Amino acid sequence: MGTTISFGIQKGGAGKTTTTAITAFLLAQSGKKVLAVDFDSQGNLTQFLTQRNIYDFTEQTALEALKEQNAAPYIHPVSTNLDILPAEDFLITFSSWLYQKYPGTDPSRVLKDTLEPVKDRYDFILIDLPPNLGDHTINGLTASDFAVVMLQSEPFCHDALDRYLETLQAVKKKTNPDLILAGILTVMLDARTTLDTAILDKARRDYEDVVFHSVIKRRSRIKEFTVTGLQLVTKADHDALEPYNNFVKELLERVK
Ligand SMILES: Nc1ncnc2c1ncn2[C@@H]1O[C@H](COP(=O)(O)OP(=O)(O)OP(=O)(O)O)[C@@H](O)[C@H]1O
Ligand SMILES: [Mg+2]
Repeated sequence: MGTTISFGIQKGGAGKTTTTAITAFLLAQSGKKVLAVDFDSQGNLTQFLTQRNIYDFTEQTALEALKEQNAAPYIHPVSTNLDILPAEDFLITFSSWLYQKYPGTDPSRVLKDTLEPVKDRYDFILIDLPPNLGDHTINGLTASDFAVVMLQSEPFCHDALDRYLETLQAVKKKTNPDLILAGILTVMLDARTTLDTAILDKARRDYEDVVFHSVIKRRSRIKEFTVTGLQLVTKADHDALEPYNNFVKELLERVK
């Protein structure tokens, strides 16, 4: 049975997609069978991992899978050990479908039910969540065994953290009692900036060991990967991915 892990925070541009993509890539490279689920209508994870136009996947996406409550027919191969359930803009219509046409009784369980038929095929299912606390995020957290919460070292993001953790508790209480907080991951840290280190220090004081010891610094090569695709060829690739390697090791320890 695959372990399902979601990457979320309701703030935009906080490294959710980048972290989901790189974690999926590294786990697949290490021989684990991975399904990446793009659960954001921006389709950034789809574009990042497949290096294709997201509209190539129109009508073969997570949205159609949700409507059939079966991911299997909509899974696309990316590379050895790595598959994706893709997304494009229309995934935003999930909410209106949910309240107008969904035949079931629990609108927060649809993604969980959709992934159920394929859970046995994977070691890990990683879900990239959108920057809000709407139906997609509630469904994503309900489908998750573990949640990784992103903390960009930026003041707005720190303020969002408490609310995200409250949402997690609400999901745990109402729809997914087994949900476990894997940890808070600090990303895009600029160690030379006092404010960034102050935000990390505050997070460590407030949330102690919930914060992953691994920290992801800001690096231009990481951003370049979004246009070149993920590679582990040059020294620069290895150097850029090393902090994520440390994070993945720590994550594997926590989700054992
Ligand atoms: N460690 C890093 N170093 C440099 N740039 C990074 C790093 N992590 C992410 N980025 C860049 O920051 C931007 C936002 O990252 P990303 O798309 O992963 O955030 P997100 O939380 O998924 O955003 P959204 O909320 O819009 O879905 C992207 O341009 C990405 O390439
Ligand atoms: Mg994203």
